[in-house]
Amino acid sequence: MNSNRKIVIALDGFSSCGKSTFAKAIASRLGYIFIDTGAMYRAVTLHALQIGAIAGGVVDEEAIVRSLDDIAITFRFNPLRGASDIYVNGELVEGKIRTIEVSNFVSAVSSIREVREKLVAMQQEMGRSRGVVMDGRDIGTVVFPDAELKIYMTADARVRAERRYAELQAKGDNVSFDEVLENVISRDKADMSRKISPLRQAEDAIVLDNSYMTVEEQMAWFDREFGRVIASLQ
Ligand code: DC
Repeated sequence: MNSNRKIVIALDGFSSCGKSTFAKAIASRLGYIFIDTGAMYRAVTLHALQIGAIAGGVVDEEAIVRSLDDIAITFRFNPLRGASDIYVNGELVEGKIRTIEVSNFVSAVSSIREVREKLVAMQQEMGRSRGVVMDGRDIGTVVFPDAELKIYMTADARVRAERRYAELQAKGDNVSFDEVLENVISRDKADMSRKISPLRQAEDAIVLDNSYMTVEEQMAWFDREFGRVIASLQ
């Protein structure tokens, strides 16, 4: 379907909630562009690890802020995934940004003011012509407070850790379930308690708890909740 009037759909929520999978399904249904903003924070974190701005468990905020001028983040649509792959300075980093190492430092990096300012400005530019489904933590509150449609996703922490653990196992990442659960819980806490743009539900967002829902069930929920709004865009 290709609507005449395009809108912004903001999808915020906890880590490993399946936001990207759901956002991708909505984008494909509407012929919209899906933007995974978490990938952008992960890309900056990966770059910081690569240049030694994170070393021995220490995050050098000043070095990361200085590095921002040297990072060009771009997206290129990958038809095999039905989503865009992320590149840093022309290098495809899609596979490298989802390791537990990046996950362990991404909350610290995403709490740096200058990092957020740069990435938020990029995200606003990408959604300027509307027609995007953007997933993240602050899309409905900060990036696009005027988004026409806002969803706040949540799921049980153990269920989320099980999903992430299965993904990492499938990729051959040798990590324990407890380590993944610990990462999920500590990121929830860090994302909700950081000073700048903490994760919180926008007043006009509708909550979806998808702990025990398949993607098909989530799409059926989307149609029930928003079918009328979507139909009115044509
Ligand atoms: O969605 P994700 O788990 O890939 O996101 C990785 C981290 O990036 C997450 O722990 C918090 C941060 N993030 C953010 O601060 N703001 C966003 N809009 C998206 C992600």
